[in-house]
Amino acid sequence: MWRPPNSRKHSISATAWPSSAEAESSILFSPIRVGQATLSQRTWVPAMVPWRATDDGYVTDDVIDWYTRFAKGRPGAIVVEATGIRDIPSGPLLRIGDDRFISGLRRLVDAVKQASGGQTKLFIQLIDFLRVRRRPPAEKFFRRFFSLSNAHRARLCEVTDTKTWLTADENDVLAYLSTASDEEQSAVLTKRELSDLRFGARERVTDLHLPHILSLPEVLPGLFREAAVRAKKAGFDGVELHYAHAYTMASFLSKTNLRQDGYGGDTSGRLRLPLEVFEAVRAGVGSNYPVGCRFLVDEVIDGGSEVGDACHYAVAFAGAGMDFISLSKGGKFDDAQEPKVGHAIYPYTGQSGYECMPSVYSDEQGPFYRNIALMAQVRQAVRASGADTPIIVAGGINDFWRAEELLSRGDGDIIGAARQSLADPDWFLKMRLGHGTAIRRCKFTNYCEALDTRHKQVTCQLWDRVNIDEPKVGRSHDGKRRLTAPHWRAPEEENP
Ligand SMILES: Cc1cc2nc3c(=O)[nH]c(=O)nc-3n(C[C@H](O)[C@H](O)[C@H](O)COP(=O)(O)O)c2cc1C
Ligand code: SF4
Repeated sequence: MWRPPNSRKHSISATAWPSSAEAESSILFSPIRVGQATLSQRTWVPAMVPWRATDDGYVTDDVIDWYTRFAKGRPGAIVVEATGIRDIPSGPLLRIGDDRFISGLRRLVDAVKQASGGQTKLFIQLIDFLRVRRRPPAEKFFRRFFSLSNAHRARLCEVTDTKTWLTADENDVLAYLSTASDEEQSAVLTKRELSDLRFGARERVTDLHLPHILSLPEVLPGLFREAAVRAKKAGFDGVELHYAHAYTMASFLSKTNLRQDGYGGDTSGRLRLPLEVFEAVRAGVGSNYPVGCRFLVDEVIDGGSEVGDACHYAVAFAGAGMDFISLSKGGKFDDAQEPKVGHAIYPYTGQSGYECMPSVYSDEQGPFYRNIALMAQVRQAVRASGADTPIIVAGGINDFWRAEELLSRGDGDIIGAARQSLADPDWFLKMRLGHGTAIRRCKFTNYCEALDTRHKQVTCQLWDRVNIDEPKVGRSHDGKRRLTAPHWRAPEEENP
């Protein structure tokens, strides 16, 4: 995992928690409208993939246990993990690409409503992603995926200072290249070939020579619309279109999107498909159903979109009638670390990944509230446009008073907290009841994220070995970790 140069370990500073009366009169615990829905409080658990679906994308009991555990803390909203809109195999990630997924998702909605006493709104994040292949062994790459040209031969002659490669047998050239030094391979292969060799082949939205990439603008609005209609049928309170991180829609928004078919290039070209997807979804679910999106305040990659672009996007989305805007930062493939041979590239391993989920091994700024200044700029742009669309902010949020301060300053409208909510799913409830001192505070060392990287069931180091022998506790595949946080009961409930 990438760390800022000269990073040092930041400590989790002590904080005061509100009394129940202070919480009661706070902005954080006041209601807010999100389109036609009203959140009972301005707290939000952003999408987190826990790797608990079946291999064919269905809801399992473990999925239900994961979300009901968050629901017991009664946040204003929970966003269900990135859920695939296509009916294609995608490992143990939730899917919504066919009507057969609706009944499982409905079971999930019902369970969350019951566990939160109807207090928590449940949204679902809808995602499309392009194909990513595992990094191949070099020999396999040159034998199966590489097409040798005269230009390659010529560059090989140049770098090895011999002319024999021009006419050498193709098998000999390929065999040589597969064991050549990094320097030689870099001199001979194109940038894209080198990337396919070292990171695994990965489709880009700019691969217009591939018919299924060229036709994305024709296909995606319908796929997102159908998925959103299914979400509505399953009983979700709204949908979040995933326009963030390393995935298809974020790639359309990216400044690196140089498509020349009207769906890339300048700001309006980059915004075109995200807006068309939203229009299609809106037409499918109607004007009363909450629809918003998540996108990046800064991609944190060379040549990528920055906060000025994000302000344009946010104003356009708000103007088009989105009901909420949830902000994130980074999380791209472009700067991810080389995976090991046989493994797939993971988008949260480079600097952009660091900025998405900043850890305590940080620069002077540290991980806490790290992205709020940029997010506040985006909110200001939206307000200056005359729209009152609620803005969800996230990134290292872990206490009450700073969260309250940012809300009162108008830096955001709703507090998103992913890892702190994973560390203690009851933390909203504890704050509201005046039991803040009982909160398990996230260490921001990203043990959970490391599990996610390895596609292992996500848990938290602060509780996954606690009371593991309790009856009915779901365990990880290796049996060593509990899958949900231990139960918490308010002292007044225990001694009524
Ligand atoms: C295990 C894990 C899985 C995540 N999965 C998603 C996801 O499916 N969709 C998404 O938009 N963000 C995802 N994120 C990012 C979080 O929603 C959030 O933006 C990030 O962790 C920063 O917020 P925090 O500092 O409150 O944790 C994930 C984060 C973690 C730790
Ligand atoms: S595993 Fe670490 S970073 Fe993740 S939620 Fe728990 S304490 Fe926080």
